[in-house]
Amino acid sequence: MAQFKIQGQIPLSGKISVSGAKNAALKAIAASLLSPQPLKITNFPFVHDVRSMLAVLETIGARITRGDHEVTIDTSNVASGNLLDAAARKIRTTTLLIGPLLHRFGEVQMGFPGGCVIGRRPIDIFINGYRALGVQVDEDDGERFIFKGKVTGGEFFFPQVSVTATESLLLAACVGVGRTILKNVAMEPEIPALAEYLSAHNAKISGAGTASIIIEGVPEITAGEYKIIPDRVEAGSFLIMAAAARAELIVENCQPEHLESLLATFDQIGVPYTRRQTSVAVHKNDRTFASANIKTHEYPGFITDLQAPMTVFLTQCQGQSLVHETIFEGRLFYIDLLNRMGANILLCDPHRALVQGPSRLRGKIIDSPDIRAGMAMVIAGLIARGETIIGNIEQIDRGYEALDERLRRIGAEITRV
Ligand code: EPU
Repeated sequence: MAQFKIQGQIPLSGKISVSGAKNAALKAIAASLLSPQPLKITNFPFVHDVRSMLAVLETIGARITRGDHEVTIDTSNVASGNLLDAAARKIRTTTLLIGPLLHRFGEVQMGFPGGCVIGRRPIDIFINGYRALGVQVDEDDGERFIFKGKVTGGEFFFPQVSVTATESLLLAACVGVGRTILKNVAMEPEIPALAEYLSAHNAKISGAGTASIIIEGVPEITAGEYKIIPDRVEAGSFLIMAAAARAELIVENCQPEHLESLLATFDQIGVPYTRRQTSVAVHKNDRTFASANIKTHEYPGFITDLQAPMTVFLTQCQGQSLVHETIFEGRLFYIDLLNRMGANILLCDPHRALVQGPSRLRGKIIDSPDIRAGMAMVIAGLIARGETIIGNIEQIDRGYEALDERLRRIGAEITRV
């Protein structure tokens, strides 16, 4: 098992470029099944989660040509909607394939999907959503699900905002017959990006990026080229890293308008930065940073995927900060690891933690619990005294491409061993 070995407190500076968004690429891959024509995806991040999704498509017969940060997916040979293969069961984004495969084959079989261990991950919203759109869904002991028939349109109110369920129903409803109205949907930037691609290829969608989406089914969606938007979570992770390490760092190729909640928190804390059209520069400084309360929220609120990196930064701020994780109940358990490194954080319950800062962190041997908590551990290692060894870095590789190489280019002493 690979590890990252990090020497802490080495000054960081320079420029770091943001990759294409993992969570947009996963949806683009699903969109390739809507049409038998090949789809070329550019600005493509080759991270593990995305490779796993490509592997699932290969198990059902898709042909994939990989290039430099681009892939071409040809799904003309896909012959069934059978997603019971072990590769498909491992990842949660298999749920995005339901709609396109139903359109092509009228039946999809899948197992209960896996995914990050960050709390309960039920699929009730998907099941009820598909039923509302006219699809028959049979369950076998909650382990095997059979979706039958074609989407005929309908209305569905999301009882809880869900990013992937919004995208799954959008992909399902855009092709076929009938009008679909989805209410209380997610507004994350990956959703209007997907809708924009689909609309450019024949779909009739309005409202993507707001809380209600209206979709008129069309007989066919064509394929073409899909350019992935910059990864706002990666950009945010690098900005937090720069602030925590008091680095002079320009985070390039990002969309700052997707990071408003983080930048507002920086304003509160007193992080000096310059925002430009496609970059944000964090400036080196020796200010005392103020504490801040953060509460994760659906977009445009504070991104749950940045909660763990932000908590590491809050250990460097003066006073008490409350971290309130409202989306997932298993996303604070990395706090024990930070306390072992010298942080002073009280876990109040599965959703809330009180951070008392500032703390001097010390290097330790730890494991990466999941993608984002793993990135948080890297930031902790970079600012801690001494050496930190992080195990289970396959988790970090799931969401950050060649992280060690890119951090070395800005001065970090990080090696993959
Ligand atoms: N939920 C249900 N029932 C469902 C679906 C979701 O109760 O049928 C609940 C979840 O348990 C959770 C809440 O709804 O409490 C929100 O979950 P959501 O469905 O929005 O999460 P997701 O779509 O599975 C995506 C990202 C996550 C990101 C969340 C929240 C992708 C592939 N994943 O997950 O990204 O944390 O939205 O923004 O888009 C990551 O990149 O590290 C990551 C975990």
